[in-house]
Parts: sequence; C-alpha cells; structure tokens
Amino acid sequence: MAKIAQKCPEIPVTVVDLNADRIAAWQTDDLPVYEPGLLEVVQEARGRNLFFSTEVDQTIAEADMIFISVNTPTKTYGIGAGKAADLKYVEACARQIAKVSTSSKIIVEKSTLPVRTAESIKRILDASENHPNFQVLSNPEFLAEGTAMQDLENPDRVLIGGEQTEEGLKAIQALVDVYAHWVNKDHIITTNLWSSELSKLTANAFLAQRISSINAISALCEATGADVDEVAHAIGKDSRIGPKFLKASVGFGGSCFQKDIYNLVYLCEHFGLPEVAQYWAKVIEMNDLQKQRFTQRILRSLFNTVSDKKIAVFGFAFKKDTNDTRESSAIYICKDLLVEGARLSIHDPKVSKEQIQKDLELSDSEFSNKIEICKNPYDAAENAHAIAILTEWDSFKTDALDYNKIFSVMEKPAFLFDGRNIVDLDAVRKIGFEAIGVGKPEEKV
Ligand code: UDX
Repeated sequence: MAKIAQKCPEIPVTVVDLNADRIAAWQTDDLPVYEPGLLEVVQEARGRNLFFSTEVDQTIAEADMIFISVNTPTKTYGIGAGKAADLKYVEACARQIAKVSTSSKIIVEKSTLPVRTAESIKRILDASENHPNFQVLSNPEFLAEGTAMQDLENPDRVLIGGEQTEEGLKAIQALVDVYAHWVNKDHIITTNLWSSELSKLTANAFLAQRISSINAISALCEATGADVDEVAHAIGKDSRIGPKFLKASVGFGGSCFQKDIYNLVYLCEHFGLPEVAQYWAKVIEMNDLQKQRFTQRILRSLFNTVSDKKIAVFGFAFKKDTNDTRESSAIYICKDLLVEGARLSIHDPKVSKEQIQKDLELSDSEFSNKIEICKNPYDAAENAHAIAILTEWDSFKTDALDYNKIFSVMEKPAFLFDGRNIVDLDAVRKIGFEAIGVGKPEEKV
C-alpha cells in the first residue's frame, strides 16, 4: 500500500488495522516491519496520501477499492488441520465490509487464498442488506521479503484475476490503471479469478520445489564428494533450468512456502487427487529432512554428543535482510540441538531477543537457562565448540567477520557448520577450523 501511495499521489490510501499499537508504530519511524527501503517510501507518502488508522468501519464506507490483506494461517483445528488455510479472518473481514458498505466497491484479495475463495467472499458480500454492487478481484503478491521494495518497484509481473463479465472486466481495468502508474503494461497479466488464485500457490510450490530438489542433491553430494554449488552452477547454465533458487541451504522457511504447499496439498486431496497431493507433500518432507540432516551432521562431527557443549548460532531469521522468523529453519535446528543437551549462544543482526525467546518457547521451559542471546558474533563464539551459520547475512561472510579472532576464542577443535554456503571453506580451514558446508566435500578434492 505504501508503494501504491508513493506512485499514485492523487489516490488516498488508508491502511486500517484493529491493532492500535501496530497502527501507532506505522506513524513513527520505528516501523513494525524491517524491510530495506520501506521507511523512505512510507516517509515520502505518509500524511500526503498514505494514512494509518483504526477507524475500520468509516474507512470501509468511504473506500472505492478495498484490499483484504489479513493473515491466512494454516488451520490448527478440525477438518484440514495442519494443511488447509484458516479463512476465519478473511470471512470476518468480508462480513464487516458487507455490514458497513452503502456504495459499490471493488474488493481485492491480497491475502494468499485457496482457489475459489473469491466465490465465498462474493457470496458473503452479496448477502449485504444494503445491496451495493461488489466486484471481487484476486491480486496475489509475489514480492519476497528482504527485496520487497525492489520487487514492488520492478515486478516480474502483476497478476489480476476477475470475473469475465462486463462489470468484472471494468473492475480489473480499474486495478490495472493503479499499477500502470509505474508498471509497464506488458507486465500486468489479467486472468479469470481461479487462474489468478491458483497461480500464486503454483509459483510458490515451484520455487520451493527447486530448493527441495537442490537440497536433495546436496545429500548426494555429501555422500559422493561432488560440490553442490558446482552442480547448481552447471545445471543453472542450462537456459531451460536457469540459475535462480538453486542455493542449497538448511531448508527453506518463511511465511509462504510451507503454508502454500500444504494448501495445494489440501486442495488436491479435496478434489480427489491423492497422488498429486503426495507429489507436492514430498517437497515439504524433503525440507524437513534437510533441517534434520544438518543437526545430525553437527552431532556426528562433535563426536556424537553435543551434551553441555556450547554452540554459537549465527542467524535466526528465515533469510537475510529481514527480521522475520516465521518457519525459519533456525527454530527447528535450535530446538533439536537443545533436546540433544546443547547450550546455545544465538546472534542475529535484526531479530530481537524477545522474538527468539518466543520462537523457542522459552518461558517456563527447561531450556531457558541453556540459551544466551548475543549482540555480536564474537561474544556468541566465546568458548563455543562449534558455530552454526543458519542465515546468510552478509555480515557472516569470510571477508566481513574476523574468523581469526573467532577461532582464537573457541574451544578446540573448533567446528564451523555453514548451513548457507557463504563462507570460503578453504580460507577458514587454513585458520584451523574444521569447516563443513551443505553438499560440500569434507576437504578440497
Ligand atoms: C516467497 C516468494 O519468493 C514470493 O514470491 C512469495 O510471494 C512469498 O514467498 P519469501 O518467503 O519472502 O518469498 O522469501 P524467498 O526469497 O522466496 O525465500 C524463501 C526461503 O527459501 C528462505 O528461507 C530462503 O533462505 C530459502 N531459499 C531461497 C533457499 O534455501 N535457497 C534458494 O536458492 C532460495
């Protein structure tokens, strides 16, 4: 919304939320979300045509176009628990819009939703007693965290789905006109509603599948002495495959991939396609395996026990340049290490101490005194037996950190497990580290 406000100064954009603290934070320069470049865009538009408010009903009543951007977590209860998207917030939102609207509106699904949700939204809206005319559009968001502002500035594509009726096409055009302020028309794709909804899930499933595929190969590389980065480079040169999303890792995290694939799996099951469901479920299984393999590798290397050994964890966010930890592999790996009896000293440049404590469920946990959260990587490494790099922050790269200094304060033998393949293994081996990457040969071959 900040980007739209920045690019379309004549359109007033109001962001509403029930959470007053969050809205208050958006009025300050300490935004609730860390994203490079976001503050500048907010500052440019805030107070001009970008507003933040808790006046939900009034803002709905005055709006011509409403973007529903509520969360759609995986259901934790009842039918579809663990897979299906929980649509209670979307439904509540649609009901509120239906209740307070007196004029025609275009409703845009921005939340990632299962296929055919637009239909449900439309039915709820059409039951409104005031009988205004509603058009529902699907406009999924493809930005990735950490690069969100660039992705919004130069999107590969903007996708807008709507009903293929005269009214529907008019609504689609109204949203096309908003994006056309800065996005080239060739990059704006319009489709029917269901194609748009399904494209979002499909894009994320394909991206996650590439990571699981290369991570599956990383296991084979470790067994054979092949180097996964060399394999990825070689196959990425094939223009049919391409170089992106082939970085082996400790497994993907983030708010989207796992949730969207589960969603797809649930849809397939719902439509009587169990084999198709299993096919996609394997992408997640492989991701879980990749996290477990990493912990097992640490255990094996540390002479089969980490009990009471200190392990320095570098990075907790699900990827660099964000403070988001949702589904971060670090959460699973840290929990597994704690169960094995390890002591952890965790450092992340952007994730807060409170967030880490919350993710590891430390309040009244037996593990709470086993964890230390450190402001810098040097403190974290003090007397540690091993370092585990779990997020690819630039500040952990070989030329950004003084690995000599780190080596000097660690227990020996000093191990370095690079879960993101960002460290020059040969360079740190020269210092004296026993260095281990994902899908990398143990020593130079
Ligand atoms: C993703 C999609 O990219 C985006 O289009 C969609 O709208 C939302 O979900 P995001 O979750 O922000 O975006 O991050 P992304 O860059 O896709 O990374 C997801 C996870 O995959 C991260 O944990 C990342 O570290 C991991 N990853 C990514 C790899 O392990 N290897 C890669 O090669 C790429």
